[in-house]
Amino acid sequence: MKWLKWMLLILLIIFVIGGIWIYVAEPRYAYVPPTFKILNSEKTDYAEKTGYDLWGDSIGLSEKKWDRDSLTPQHGAVKIDDQLLQLGRKAFYEETFGNEVFLTDIMGIVDGALTIPQISKAILKLKGKGTTNLKVELAKDVEIGNRKYKKGDLIDTGLDVPKGALVPLGMPIRFSEGRIKVGISCAACHATVDPATKRVIEGAPNSDLNAGLLMALATNSAAYFTHTDREALKEYLKEERESNQELNLPDPEKLEKAVDAVFANWPRGNFDSTIDFVSNPAQIPDSFTLGDHPYGWSGFAMAGPFKGLSAFSNNVHAQNSDSLGQADASPVLFGISKEKYLGIILQNAANPKYRYQPEKGEMPSAFFAKLDPTPGVPGVNEMVKSPSYPKVNLVAPDGLMINSKGYRFGEQVNGMAAWQNTLKPPKGLIKADKTTVDLGRQIFQRAGCISCHSGNHFTNHRVIAAEVIKTEPSRAKALKKTEKIFGDTLTYPFTVKVPFSDETSPIRVPIEHLDDRQIQLAYGHGKTEGGYKVPSLIGLYWTAPYLHDGGVSVGDDIRQDLGISGTLLKGKNPDPYNSLKALVDKELRAKVIQANKSSPQLRQVHVEGGGHEYWVDPTTGFTKEEQEALISYLLSIE
Ligand code: HEC
Ligand code: HEC
Repeated sequence: MKWLKWMLLILLIIFVIGGIWIYVAEPRYAYVPPTFKILNSEKTDYAEKTGYDLWGDSIGLSEKKWDRDSLTPQHGAVKIDDQLLQLGRKAFYEETFGNEVFLTDIMGIVDGALTIPQISKAILKLKGKGTTNLKVELAKDVEIGNRKYKKGDLIDTGLDVPKGALVPLGMPIRFSEGRIKVGISCAACHATVDPATKRVIEGAPNSDLNAGLLMALATNSAAYFTHTDREALKEYLKEERESNQELNLPDPEKLEKAVDAVFANWPRGNFDSTIDFVSNPAQIPDSFTLGDHPYGWSGFAMAGPFKGLSAFSNNVHAQNSDSLGQADASPVLFGISKEKYLGIILQNAANPKYRYQPEKGEMPSAFFAKLDPTPGVPGVNEMVKSPSYPKVNLVAPDGLMINSKGYRFGEQVNGMAAWQNTLKPPKGLIKADKTTVDLGRQIFQRAGCISCHSGNHFTNHRVIAAEVIKTEPSRAKALKKTEKIFGDTLTYPFTVKVPFSDETSPIRVPIEHLDDRQIQLAYGHGKTEGGYKVPSLIGLYWTAPYLHDGGVSVGDDIRQDLGISGTLLKGKNPDPYNSLKALVDKELRAKVIQANKSSPQLRQVHVEGGGHEYWVDPTTGFTKEEQEALISYLLSIE
């Protein structure tokens, strides 16, 4: 039996070494689709045509008019080569910038009724087939809002699992500090699985992602309280005096319930990325970004590399996946002291290591400083402070810049921006013939759509005042309060490696070409109430429902499936053709708005589907055929 002893000894050694390796190396995994698993592997010619980006100007390699000296990363030039594009693609699918700590350890996204074993079980049940909506069994009973969920209930997560994948798209997992942690990457929202082929559509929105419910199911959703509603939390967040003697933290259980109830009202496919304390989740847009500047529904990302696309890509994890980062801005943005703000987020943290205990008499910032995984920068994600910190600016609208250690400054966000500009939607499955589409193109001109949706990318790049476009106005002014903390548009040279020394000199980002009134509209600054940018119309086939609030939604049955209340709230997906009909048909739209307005759930989250009243119907002298041709044309835009 000597060999048995030897075998056992060898196995033991393997386990010990393996165990140590797992602890030290913190292995991680995210799904990145190989080319043959992608439906739209054809790309735009952006990268071939563009050698450099210089603050949003595309410069071909052969162009002579540019002064070569200014084409250095020191001065803000970004060289677009294969290496950058690959880095960008990898980051888009895999990079979490460490947001596992916020999502798993603090928010407890897989600590409540939704657990990793249950998610794994749901994926195994697919037997490799893939899905556009992973249905997961709840691990225990829970009550959210007025609704009771039972252990074993199947919930629609909206998470997408490509054919043959072992984890959902955009949900990287990591083994760290002795536990499995999940994070989130761009692909959770900006890539989706094609229902027919179960292949990945890169850049198409995951329009049934149930982000609100997933967060409501977390044990400390309150960590994300600034993405909910002042009205709903009023009772718990009474303004306090500056002294901080008495932190006066809200009752964690009651606060958690109030926050959960708001999140559970978000329609699938919407996400509230703004911290204005108004519950106004906006629809996840597509990432077919080339020529679609300025970025964000209100067009607030307009300056810097790639015409603001880097600034937007930065904002995602610099603000949206780590609420702790806003602690310094909390008094101005939320009227809550920094200490109370940190206390609210940490008092019920899922992992005891991060759980703040007021009875120990320590201030929340002192407690947090001891376990901060990224000392010296706000929050827990891998960031650097922008040169204007604590002020925000046009290229860092939250004052922070996301950047992993060891990478050059800006490399990851610039890579993601450049790569997104190569994405192109697959052909939509429409049956219209060429004559119809041609007629539709003429109607598009005759109806005046082209005055705003002009040029190759179907946009004049303008932000239209909310009073003029008349769509639901709340998201337009979501960034209003940043006016009090707005600073100069500075960044760092793209040559320095992170972390870099405090002595690194900032560089100025040119903004002279931007129109002041447009900046005001994008941020709701000055006397404006904000506005919405004219979005590109490329890929409409893949992006129903329509408008920033996603309210223009009609399902397969044009008589019954009206509004978000008649579609996504009932587990039915919007149909692109019927939804576009509701966009341009006055009578049908009135029914859609009526349906949305009659839902208290949608009223609370400001989803309405109103405005943008550019009718192409009998009221404006167009025939049924002309309307149909216009819709076919819109769906054919790629
Ligand atoms: C949880 C879902 C979610 C994740 C994850 C996410 N986004 Fe978004 N994204 C949104 C929403 C919602 C908006 C609209 C925000 C607004 O303006 O109100 C948006 C807007 C955008 C836009 C603007 C598009 C346009 O045409 O104006 C870009 C670009 C973008 N996201 C890139 C990214 C990148 C890059 C990542 C990863 C670093 C990412 N997003 C991660 C939900 C998400
Ligand atoms: C005055 C400028 C203007 C005109 C004219 C205009 N649009 Fe728009 N369009 C916008 C703006 C701004 C938005 C975004 C509004 C929002 O989301 O709140 C928009 C949004 C859209 C969307 C939704 C895109 C999405 O991804 O949700 C479609 C489709 C669209 N327009 C088509 C048309 C058609 C068709 C016409 C002509 C019948 C037209 N537009 C006329 C400015 C305009």
